[in-house]
Amino acid sequence: MKRDGALESLWQSEVEMYGDGSAGQKTDYDIVITGAGITGVSTAFSLQNKGFECLIVEASNIGFGTTGGTTAHLNNFFDASYDEMIRDFGLEKAKLLAHAAREALEIISQNITDYGIECDYSARTGYLFSLDEEQEKILDDLVEGSRQVGIGMNETDKNPFGIPCTKIVEIPDQAQFHPLKYIKGLLSEYMNSGGMIVEGCRVTGVEKKENHLVVSTTKGNIVCNHLVYATHLPPGKNIMHFRNAPYRSYVLALKLKNNNYPQALGYDLFEPYHYYRSHTIDGEEDLIAGGEDHKTGDIENTDECFEKLKDYVDQYFDIERVAYKWSSQFYEPADGLPYIGHLPGSPENVYCATGYSGNGMIFGTLAAKTLSDLITTGDSMYKDLFAPSRVKPVAGFSNVVKEGADVFKHLVFDKFMVERLQTLANLEKDEGKLINYEGSLVAVYKDRNGINHILESACTHLQCTVKWNREEKSWDCPCHGSRFGIDGEILTGPAVKKLKNVGTPEDSERLDLG
Ligand code: FES
Repeated sequence: MKRDGALESLWQSEVEMYGDGSAGQKTDYDIVITGAGITGVSTAFSLQNKGFECLIVEASNIGFGTTGGTTAHLNNFFDASYDEMIRDFGLEKAKLLAHAAREALEIISQNITDYGIECDYSARTGYLFSLDEEQEKILDDLVEGSRQVGIGMNETDKNPFGIPCTKIVEIPDQAQFHPLKYIKGLLSEYMNSGGMIVEGCRVTGVEKKENHLVVSTTKGNIVCNHLVYATHLPPGKNIMHFRNAPYRSYVLALKLKNNNYPQALGYDLFEPYHYYRSHTIDGEEDLIAGGEDHKTGDIENTDECFEKLKDYVDQYFDIERVAYKWSSQFYEPADGLPYIGHLPGSPENVYCATGYSGNGMIFGTLAAKTLSDLITTGDSMYKDLFAPSRVKPVAGFSNVVKEGADVFKHLVFDKFMVERLQTLANLEKDEGKLINYEGSLVAVYKDRNGINHILESACTHLQCTVKWNREEKSWDCPCHGSRFGIDGEILTGPAVKKLKNVGTPEDSERLDLG
């Protein structure tokens, strides 16, 4: 599996394993960066260029997580709009955020130019459109907020998406790229300058010993001076788990009968909103449309999310067929801004970067800038804006799921359990279900060959009950977004341990659960 789900994304053919890279037997570094998505690779690239010896530790392969599932819109505006930022943080901080967005766009385009990265980068105009009166009011406020921070949005009668709307504004100087080609390009420069990477290795914790950090991994300990968690939520139990809520978003890559692919970025103002753009790979163009976001674990029949999205897009575009469909995870921060900086409650020199909403390419790039400045100089112009320790009264945010809400006992596989499960389950092939066995929920998936895969349903992070995700064939935890494959392997942290197998594979094979 090359990304964190069963469905293939448009970008995946670009993923390859580096394996142990050039890490060899060396176990001490200046900086360890865990996670090889855009945040980890950009941060490592930046710090290696500043003369530090860096090691990227990636649990799977580069781009395995959200960077492999993003739609890679490069914007100077965010899901949390500037009018909301002005209201919640004040005009000066909102202006600083706008400055940060422009800087991130410049960093990306400069990297592409300086290192000749071929990543299908193209400048695009963005369009925001309202489909009814309520959305028009939101759009008016958004445009006014953007004006105040110096981000130009102008009403226009151009409508490249052809979606009937009450008002449309254009935003110049946006862009798009192929996310995996971009991080591969950066990674290659990083490795050329001596940077190292190990894949298939998970960081499980960190301890301060004397004046250095000891990072524990599934392949042994590494000593370093600084550790960056570029993994969305860091493992363990920390305040970031209460300040971010995991969400999933759905994406379709569509062939259009009329070949009328819009050469622009587009967004409506529904909650959740739909987003659109086109991309050409090897001469094949697709319309990429996304939306139908929901909190992770809230919907089991995720096929319905794809159907709803397709039905919606079908109203406006002449769809020939769905070429790709996939979903991806992102984290909503409590107050609209990401958390980038020192991880509260951890030893000094341990950093995190999370809570990007749907703006991962820009915030991932900004995280690299902010963290490399903090590590190099102890300061950053964005230090306070993104500080993970900031205290901001948050109205309306609720990471609604209680932790440890369920009491789990570890199950022992025996013949009584087999009999009981046989009675309770009635699984079709390729179906997953939680089954109540003597007061404990067991996660059972019956594969296409009729083999049952039986797991405890207690998430190994903080013991919430996982939920079945029918399309990505995964067990998703609604509390902090850990996700597990059908055999319990970790697809997404913060969990660092697999879901426990209830029986042995042989036990599972001889089970016939209907
Ligand atoms: Fe935290 Fe599952 S309990 S991710």
